[in-house]
Parts: sequence; C-alpha cells; structure tokens
Amino acid sequence: MLDTAKLSEARDFIRSKTAVQPTIGLILGSGLGVLAEDIQEAVHIPYREIPHFPISTVEGHKGQLVIGQLCGKAVIALQGRFHYYEGYSADAIAFPVRVMKELGVQTLMVTNAAGGINEEFSVGQLMLIKDHINFSGKNPLIGPNWDTHGPRFPDMSTAYDPEYRALALQIAKELNISMSEGTYIWFSGPSYETPAEIRMSRILGADAVGMSTVPEVIVARHAGIRVIGISCVSNMAAGILEQPLSHQEVMEVTERVREQFVAFVRQFVQRV
Ligand code: 6GU
Repeated sequence: MLDTAKLSEARDFIRSKTAVQPTIGLILGSGLGVLAEDIQEAVHIPYREIPHFPISTVEGHKGQLVIGQLCGKAVIALQGRFHYYEGYSADAIAFPVRVMKELGVQTLMVTNAAGGINEEFSVGQLMLIKDHINFSGKNPLIGPNWDTHGPRFPDMSTAYDPEYRALALQIAKELNISMSEGTYIWFSGPSYETPAEIRMSRILGADAVGMSTVPEVIVARHAGIRVIGISCVSNMAAGILEQPLSHQEVMEVTERVREQFVAFVRQFVQRV
C-alpha cells in the first residue's frame, strides 16, 4: 500500500545528499549496472541507508542509487533492482519509482536481462519492449488509490511510449545495434519457465520472458512517467536450445553486450 509519509521521508533523505534534480530515471538490470559508472559528479546512496527502501539480494545487483549527470542530463539510476521472487510485495518493488517521481523524474528507462522466446532472436541482441503481459497475477496498485498520485484505473494502452520507441529504433540504426521490438512477459520466478510455459507464452504473443520490470512500469504509468524499456536477450528460454538455463550465462552475455548497451543509453539520454 502506498504510504505518502514513507515516500516523503525517502525523498527528503535523498535530497539531503544531493542538490541534483533528476528528470530521467534509469533502472539497471542484471549485469547492466555498469552504466552507472559513467555518471559524472555522482552521489552514491546504498539502498540500506534510504528510509523505507527495500534491500536487493540477488547476485550481480549492487544495491545503490547513483545520482548525477549523464550526457548533460540530470539522472538517477537504480543500480540493482528488487524482484518479486526475493519476497517483496509488488508495490515494495516499485517504491523506488514513486520516490523518483517525487524527485522530479518524468522519463524512466527500465532495462533487464530476458530469455528469448521469439525464435528469430539471437542471444546478445537487444529487444525494445513495445508491450508487456503481466502473467504474475500481481499488481503493485492493489489497495486503496491515492488520487493525488494517479488514477484508480490507469490506461496501459501506450505503456511503452511510442515517441520514445521511434527514437530508440532510430538510435539503434545509427549505432548499428541489432534491436527488434517485442512483447515482454513477466513471470514471478525464481525458477525459470518450463518448455510448456514458454510454448504457451509464444502463443500468447510474448517475445521475451523475465522476472522484473512490469511492476515498475505499472507504477511509472500510474504516476504519469513516460517509459522506455530495453531487454537484453541473455539466453534463449527453456525448450528452444538443447541446453539448460543458467544465471551464469545471463551474467556472461550481459557483460558481452554492455558496450553496445551503454552506447545506446547514452545517446537516448542525450536526445530524449
Ligand atoms: Cl528464460 N526466464 C525468466 N523468467 N527470466 C529470465 C530468463 C528466462 N532469462 C533471463 N532472465
């Protein structure tokens, strides 16, 4: 449940650490946190110090806020995000997005490592998220609605901003980065899906699968923040290739594509 007092405390704490007023938020997924190292005049705030912030536990996630300048824009990055499978509620996962909004963020870029469902995809490519399927049965907005923070029944028909998507495809073309558009499906995890679940997801229209992103996007849209989402296809989903899935592979592949990923994000931030 949204608690506005907790929100104000977290916001005021962050404001006491930096004068930077970020307008762009970045949520950096598994293996993609390196981007935060490019932020200039950066202030780092470990999540554990921020009042009411959840604490991230998964390997490969750093667990700090990084606030500063990136390509001439004031940004706030979550280096390491929160997942439903860690035991947090869907609204706790999205709490940092509410805090970003309070700090002045109008644009949110969400990134993740995802399993490829679309057989045309290859490992290491980027997928621009054009839509999502919430297959978790959870929603971060369940509970009383604070009408001051957003509508009871927020529209999701353009959750992934059409203008941002056009800009993203343009940038990918200019930088010669392989990027397809696709639909992301959210499973709770932490077990990976079965081959049958992946076949089902393909029939439902999903192109990539992951354990994150959707709760943050729902809250961002509720708050009126415009969203762009990028998945790094770190492996093919279950049943597509004759090999088991491993978190190790996810980390290795995201490390390989990070140069491309960083170049893309820098351009986007500069031009948005
Ligand atoms: Cl195959 N499934 C899920 N749920 N998350 C992933 C993944 C697969 N690959 C990377 N992240």
